Amino acid sequence: MIEINNVEKIFETQDGTDVHALAGVSIDVAPDEFVAFVGPSGCGKSTLLRLVAGLVSPSSGAVRIDGTPVTGPRQDVGIVFQAPTLLPWANILDNVLFPFRIMRRLDRTAVERAVGLLELAGLKGFERRMPRELSGGMQQRAAICRALVHDPTTLLMDEPFGALDALTREEMSLELMRIWTERPKTILFVTHSIPEAVLLADRVVVMGPRPGRILEIITVRLPRPRSFNQQSTAEFQDYAQRIRGHIFGRRPN
Ligand SMILES: Nc1ncnc2c1ncn2[C@@H]1O[C@H](COP(=O)(O)OP(=O)(O)O)[C@@H](O)[C@H]1O
Ligand SMILES: [Mg+2]
Repeated sequence: MIEINNVEKIFETQDGTDVHALAGVSIDVAPDEFVAFVGPSGCGKSTLLRLVAGLVSPSSGAVRIDGTPVTGPRQDVGIVFQAPTLLPWANILDNVLFPFRIMRRLDRTAVERAVGLLELAGLKGFERRMPRELSGGMQQRAAICRALVHDPTTLLMDEPFGALDALTREEMSLELMRIWTERPKTILFVTHSIPEAVLLADRVVVMGPRPGRILEIITVRLPRPRSFNQQSTAEFQDYAQRIRGHIFGRRPN
């Protein structure tokens, strides 16, 4: 359970002007729930994820995971950023094994799991390659493997598929849904893509800027398992339209 309670974040900048990145943001995310965040650039989506990740602290309000206030990064939380953030000096397998190394749990089971995930992500045969030898999309797939390898109970994903081509993006969405179905976890997922949000999420949180805040929370009641074929259905289109309406400030018709 993730509790985000009346969170405000103000960044103080060099020139003395404050940036009100988030104001009065409250939402509880149930265990194993998949929540997508959408909204224009600068509305505080990344800041909100970084708060839950313990990478920044709120100016006021509180974030709790399973009842404990977040004070820093936690081992039971996996994070995927928009740009792949692999360690340049370690090969792909060692990068994926990194969480186990930190937790001092690097054993054969860990290696088998990492190798299995890399295969799922289409990176079989690249285990010993260095990050710079792989395309951006391949590096990002490796970064997703790294976030999943120790089976965290919470997964934070900040536009994880943004750098991928459309086809890989669809494949990765389906793969993520499969992994989430097999090994349920709480997922907070930021995306620019409204169809992606509708396809994946139990709830879509629409955010707005200046100050960054929640405008609307839409529960997506499409049956699971979901597939891209559903995108053409009236129900799917209706959800997408409602979300667009909230983002662009029009009442949905
Ligand atoms: N470290 C920081 N210092 C100053 N301002 C920041 C910092 N991080 C984010 N901001 C500002 O906070 C606002 C929200 O940013 P961000 O959370 O990245 O939005 P989003 O991910 O929705 O595009 C923006 O105006 C951004 O410039
Ligand atoms: Mg962002």
